[in-house]
Amino acid sequence: MRILVVGGGGREHALAWKIAQSPLLTKLYCAPGNPGIAEVAECVPVNADDVMGLVLFTREKKIDLVVVGPEDPLAQGLTDELVTRGVRVFGPSAAAAALESSKVFAKRLMHKHDIPTAQFRIFDQAHDAHDHVERIGAPVVVKADGLAKGKGVIVCSTVAEAHTAIREIMEVRVFGKAGDRVLVEECLRGEEVSILAVTDGKSILALEPAQDHKRIFDNDEGPNTGGMGAYSPVPRVTPGLAAEIERRVFVPTIHALRREGLRYQGVLYAGLMITRNGPQVLEYNVRFGDPETQPLMMRMKSDLLPILAAAAEGKLGHSAIEWDPRPAICVVMASGGYPGDYEKKKPIEGLDRAARLPDVAVFHAGTTLSDGKVVTSGGRVLGVTAIGRTIAEAREKAYHAAGLIHFDGAQYRKDIGHRALA
Ligand code: AMP
Ligand code: GLY
Repeated sequence: MRILVVGGGGREHALAWKIAQSPLLTKLYCAPGNPGIAEVAECVPVNADDVMGLVLFTREKKIDLVVVGPEDPLAQGLTDELVTRGVRVFGPSAAAAALESSKVFAKRLMHKHDIPTAQFRIFDQAHDAHDHVERIGAPVVVKADGLAKGKGVIVCSTVAEAHTAIREIMEVRVFGKAGDRVLVEECLRGEEVSILAVTDGKSILALEPAQDHKRIFDNDEGPNTGGMGAYSPVPRVTPGLAAEIERRVFVPTIHALRREGLRYQGVLYAGLMITRNGPQVLEYNVRFGDPETQPLMMRMKSDLLPILAAAAEGKLGHSAIEWDPRPAICVVMASGGYPGDYEKKKPIEGLDRAARLPDVAVFHAGTTLSDGKVVTSGGRVLGVTAIGRTIAEAREKAYHAAGLIHFDGAQYRKDIGHRALA
């Protein structure tokens, strides 16, 4: 099969690395890719959000399956454009991708189809939202409707914070159009977990649980990021809880999408709060998680390619995935200053030594080539991933590998996987 992976971050490196091991593969392209991905795929200079450029490339190279990494091209209708032209795609239609690109859409769908989620109200006028938080008080959660790079959710412990959040989103408009509407939500308490499931729109194939670490600093302190590390499996997600999440969240969500006539053939990511009343959906993502995908790909023993193809063809049926029981962990090395401003073009040393270690893979996220050398080009730079007999051993291997890699200003959390160890 001739495959195109769309994207150029750590998630896409992990997907390309796994797909490259498939005996069914004849040619692997990645658009635009990165220097790490270039070791397993041919990178092509087409950006992930250049929908027409991707469509043309797919036809020219007779691609059999397009695997979409990030949410932006999905929200922009890449799947729709390709499906119209008879190309198979792993990734939902733009209408279904609104599950991620519009929190208002997602909440209305959940409400209509009895999918458990926090109580909420939707506002398109700031003064109504301000009045509402005065009435209900704190704690409360304020969310911008649209895509805001993971920064559009503000958990407010006081009413004053909620007013500030509404002002920033709706009046100062820090997220632009994404802040045309806000959601004001009940603040849920419990433990957060993320579950991803592959679906062809009819059947569901849950992946092993993986846990992200959103905050920049150790002990979950500091601002939110795209994700500073992840591990899998998650001891908190017992088989019983996984079954409950499938029954109460995934089955009704897939039914809801079908009943609404939304094409969903891809991976559905549910961010959940496990409350006293069971799992509640905090958010959906319509793609693989980054960095959750890195440890997941390291643990997946089955060939990924037939699963992606079956989902895209609507033939997932009773597909199953075999997993390595050993835990895997990914430590994200980020640029100094991230998630705020940071400098780029810092030369990266030690990549080869780290990547040669057994049971280690160094996935590139924000890297590029400059005069033939790998340099930093983004906030999250590398996902140093390792597998071990225990979570402690996987952690030791990942941190040993990370310790061999150097670039000016590099920062990473030292406590990835701490909850699984506790
Ligand atoms: P989201 O992007 O919707 O997942 O929100 C980002 C983070 O905000 C989540 O990972 C939670 O930690 C928190 N969050 C979102 N919604 C709620 C809620 N209703 N109650 C408590 N925390 C929330
Ligand atoms: N790691 C969180 C996400 O991919 O959205």
